[in-house]
Amino acid sequence: MSERYVTVAKVGDLEPGEMMYVEVGEEPVCLINLDGALYAINDTCTHEEASLSDGTIEGDEIECPLHGGVFNIRTGEPAAFPVVVPVETYGVRIEGDDVQVAVRP
Ligand code: FES
Repeated sequence: MSERYVTVAKVGDLEPGEMMYVEVGEEPVCLINLDGALYAINDTCTHEEASLSDGTIEGDEIECPLHGGVFNIRTGEPAAFPVVVPVETYGVRIEGDDVQVAVRP
């Protein structure tokens, strides 16, 4: 089945190095502008209940605010303990002035 894209923000809402919390259906999503490219990952840390959009971007990684676990923003792969499970990543596309994130059917 093909993915469905949902508008979550406007181009220009996020400057490079910024991120924001958005919701795609029921999913909490952290939308990140990494050097001008947009990425979307699930907002909930895979370690415990923490919102990654409250964390810190370091290079191409995001650090969880609760215990300092780190994920690669591009791949969702864990990059530093205590995170060992990847965080889900989503497709992002630009349609006109809209930023859209893919949701699974
Ligand atoms: S909740 Fe994110 S590292 Fe523990």
